Parts: sequence; C-alpha cells; structure tokens
Amino acid sequence: MTDLSLNLKSQEKQYNIYIDNYSLADFKSKIVENIGGKKVLAVISKKVEKLYGDKIFPLCDDEKFTVYKYILPDGEKHKNFKNYQRILNFALKNGFTRKDCVLAIGGGVVGDLAGFVAATYMRGIDLIQVPTTLLACVDSSVGGKTAIDTDFGKNLVGAFYQPKTVIIDVNFLKTLDEKQFKTGLGEVVKYAFIEKSCGMVEYENLINFLGENFEKLMRKDAKILKKVVEICVALKISVVEKDEKESDLRRILNFGHTLGHAIEKYTAYKKYTHGEAIVQGMIFAFEQAYKVGLIDENYKFAALNLISKFNFRSVKMPNMKKLANLMRMDKKATSDSIVFVLPKDYGQVQICKFTTEELS
Ligand code: GLY
Repeated sequence: MTDLSLNLKSQEKQYNIYIDNYSLADFKSKIVENIGGKKVLAVISKKVEKLYGDKIFPLCDDEKFTVYKYILPDGEKHKNFKNYQRILNFALKNGFTRKDCVLAIGGGVVGDLAGFVAATYMRGIDLIQVPTTLLACVDSSVGGKTAIDTDFGKNLVGAFYQPKTVIIDVNFLKTLDEKQFKTGLGEVVKYAFIEKSCGMVEYENLINFLGENFEKLMRKDAKILKKVVEICVALKISVVEKDEKESDLRRILNFGHTLGHAIEKYTAYKKYTHGEAIVQGMIFAFEQAYKVGLIDENYKFAALNLISKFNFRSVKMPNMKKLANLMRMDKKATSDSIVFVLPKDYGQVQICKFTTEELS
C-alpha cells in the first residue's frame, strides 16, 4: 500500500491518502480507524452501489457505528441544490450529530456534493473520501474542494473542506466504462503537462511515462494504474500543500479548464465529458502558447502527439465570443480579465491574464 500524506501548514492539519489494490480487504480497518462518532452517512453513487454495495456495506458493518445509506443517481446534473438539501434533511431526520461522519463513495459528483454536505452540516463534520472513478482518484477527492453546480455555472457554490482521509482502491477502476475512464485520463494528461510546475523535488517525467506505458494503461494494468494514480496524487498534494485556497500556485491545476468549463457550460454539460472539454482547453492552450512564442514547435508537436495517442473525442469549437462571455463567469476571472494557464516548457506552465477583447 502507498500511504501519502497531505500537510496543511495553515491549519496544522494532516491527512493520509491510501492508495492500493485492496480488493476491499483492508477497507474496513481504514474506515474504522477514521470514524469517531456512532453514525456514518454513506453517500454512494447508484452505479457503485449496484456493482459493489453487497461487498462494501457488510465490510462497513461494525458494532461501534451504524451506516445510513443515501444512494445518489449518477451524472453531473444531480450535483445540485435539491440533492444537497435532500441529503442534509436525511442526516437531520436520522439524528446525525457533529461527531458523526460522511463517507463519500463514488466519482466527482458524489465527492463534491457529499463533501459540501460534510462541510456545512452543523458547520462541518468529518468526511472520508472513497473515490471510485479515475477522475476522482487523481483529482477531485484530494485537496478539499467541495461544491454544487448552479444555473449560472459549475461549482459556483462550495467550500474548501479537507477530508479526514482518502481511501483509493484502484480495483474500482476495472469496472469503469470507456467514457468514464477516458474523462479521468484527460486529468492525467493534464498532470503530465504541469508536472514540473507542481514544485516537487523529484519528478517522474509523466509525459514520457504515459507515452511508454500507454498500452498497459489503456488495458487498465493494475500496476501501471496504481503508479499513475500515485504520481498524480503526489503532484496534487505538492500543489495543495503550497496553496490550499487557490490564491496562486493551485491555479495551475486548472490547465485546460478555463476553456473546458466554458465548453461544458455552452453545451449544457450534455455533449462532452469533462475530460473531453479540458483536453480541448489544453489543445487551445498549446496553440496559443505557440502563437505568442511561449513554446517551440517541438514541444507543441510532442504535446499534441501525446494527446492524440489517447484518441479523445474531439470538440467542435463554439464561437469564441460566446465562450469568452462564459469564461468571465469562471471563478478565476476578474471583472476585466480571464485567467488562462499556458504551457511554457516541457511539463511547465504559467498563469496568464487576457482581456475579453484579446481573446476575441
Ligand atoms: N481540480 C482542481 C483543484 O483541485 O484545484
């Protein structure tokens, strides 16, 4: 098992992130050692409950606490205020106290929504993240971002709220469908392009690693999957430890996301996956960076070559003026500028600001 830890200096808070192929064997001890109260609110994705519910819940059975199951339908559209309120009411009805905890089992939608419930229920109760998609393993379960979507955009209401622990079992990834797996790969590729900017003392060279292990990764070879998750989580930890609240460095994790989020919003979150949208955002960033002379042709070619290897579904680019308006709703935008993360060298990025006119 790989046991990584995230240390937040500001709050003197530290938590562990366990990564393994448990086959769920170690699962119970990891959960039990992190539960303080008598009640556990397990918010679980409908798909995951169907596939793994009969294995997970007997494991959670313990005389020290009772598990209350809340099954959440799958899909971004369910990460909304209605479900947030329903889960809070469920917890209140069942008498959850401040000592109890939320166990989020699922992908980014479950993690973000259940995380926001944990962040706000009685001003905050413990949260354990059990990510079951690649995207949630490498990104959303680590670092404390919790949120719900609104009519005005994605993740516009939320809180920074760190989990008590994150338990990653890459075995869950074996049953991911192609679409879900690929959307996570979009985030993995992102880490390759920002790796050197994440501030780790040693780095793996994820661009080469992905190129060399491409076939195994696509076959979901357990060893390679675990290694990829470990590299991405270590990079995320490095960034979050330096800038928990995204005032500076953490913005690099949004490489490809400014445009990606606008594409998702423009197409009402229906046409493209998050991964496909951010991959288009990265392609756009490489093209812009080349145009303004930040990167040379060799790097642009190598980067686009790696992206094309994964055969992500391509995005039909909407009108840039319309996208620019949507990008102004981005949380990183100010009243007169839009923040973009652009590549500047192999595995390195920099933060740039553009006015709406410049973008158009
Ligand atoms: N998903 C980007 C972040 O956690 O900052």
